[in-house]
Amino acid sequence: MDDLVFARLLHVLGVVLWIGGVSMVTSVLLPTLMRMQSMSEAMAFFQQFRRRFAAQARITTLVVGISGFYMVYELNAWQRFLQWQYWWMHAMVAIWLLFSVMLFIQEPRSRRHQTPQSAAVPISPDTFTRIQRKHLFLLILSLITIAGAVAGSHGWLVGM
Ligand code: HEM
Repeated sequence: MDDLVFARLLHVLGVVLWIGGVSMVTSVLLPTLMRMQSMSEAMAFFQQFRRRFAAQARITTLVVGISGFYMVYELNAWQRFLQWQYWWMHAMVAIWLLFSVMLFIQEPRSRRHQTPQSAAVPISPDTFTRIQRKHLFLLILSLITIAGAVAGSHGWLVGM
């Protein structure tokens, strides 16, 4: 197996584990938590779940980023970032940056700043609705990007 095929294999496996997890949180976990009797128990469960998922997602994000940039280097595809037909290349990097900021900067920071007082703040179903909307937005962006990347890397480019 050559290096490029191996990098692609790791890239796709990383994407499946990472975005698959985002999909599960959005369409299964959050709707279930929103129907729980106690919102504070639901939030405590969600925070524990998120911590574990973030630890996994940090690894898959790194794998996707390293394999992605390796492929750009091997394919010598840097000039694609100057062509709009390769919008999915920009979208991949943008999503990767967005999640990296959330996983490596925001999540650890919010964990550090958690106090007993913040745990006592009342939680309403609206809190979960807001969290779900944010996840749904990221999921839709990711799915559009995946569709564009698969189509584009197999030769289906808009306007070409
Ligand atoms: C640093 C960020 C990333 C870089 C530099 C990157 C780079 C690349 C490159 C160079 C390819 C191969 C293109 C080709 O064969 O012409 C590729 C394929 C692909 N990437 Fe990314 N990528 C990144 C992040 C992502 C993310 C976040 C996703 C998912 C949301 C993603 C999903 C895919 C998919 C589905 C393919 C197509 C695989 C195939 O069908 O062969 N990538 N990426």
